[in-house]
Amino acid sequence: MLIHQTDTPDQAILKVKNHLKMSATGKKHKIRFFSISSIDLETNTVSSRMVVLRKFYPDWTVRFYTDHRTNKVSDIKQNPIIALLFWSPDENLQIRMKAKAVIHHQNEVCKKEWENVTGKSQNQYSAEPRPGTILSSLDKLTYRSDKVGSKYFTVVDCKPFDLQVLQLQDTENLALKFHRENENSEWKGGWIVP
Ligand SMILES: Cc1cc2nc3c(=O)[nH]c(=O)nc-3n(C[C@H](O)[C@H](O)[C@H](O)COP(=O)(O)O)c2cc1C
Repeated sequence: MLIHQTDTPDQAILKVKNHLKMSATGKKHKIRFFSISSIDLETNTVSSRMVVLRKFYPDWTVRFYTDHRTNKVSDIKQNPIIALLFWSPDENLQIRMKAKAVIHHQNEVCKKEWENVTGKSQNQYSAEPRPGTILSSLDKLTYRSDKVGSKYFTVVDCKPFDLQVLQLQDTENLALKFHRENENSEWKGGWIVP
């Protein structure tokens, strides 16, 4: 359990922040994956999918990698407001965020992060045809060179402005809700009914 009823809301949110920081940097990833949900404005439908937590910054920016040709990128380009969902099994903790996503493609951020993508991991960004394409047979799927991967490699920074935390307990659960205008402003919030 990470959050206790003796914590103040500010202490609780700091614990959540440290937990995410440790998950992104520590050898033991408490939270290695999370889900992001985006809206396709053309079809007015929502899609969720898992991604790997790559970085967590002091201003709460959550970073993940993807392929520029994926549906999530086209969704985010139309509407950058996305939802993030984390589950920490050891702590019985759910973290939900609403965030504004910023796409980095073929820029210095991508160049630097691409250095962390080595070996077979580069294949994840060089599939042909583009991710999501219907295949008449599996032999139509190929992976191009690392140069192609770096061309499609994309970094997404999620800047949360809304935060909801649920601490499951044996008896009463604890829940918190916080909001801030942008990544430079203070979180404001407190306990809510779980
Ligand atoms: C555990 C797990 C981790 C994943 N990590 C990533 C990731 O970091 N980036 C990514 O683009 N896709 C990742 N995927 C694949 C996505 O969930 C998704 O299937 C793919 O990106 C296509 O999504 P889209 O077409 O909705 O954009 C992961 C899948 C799983 C099951």
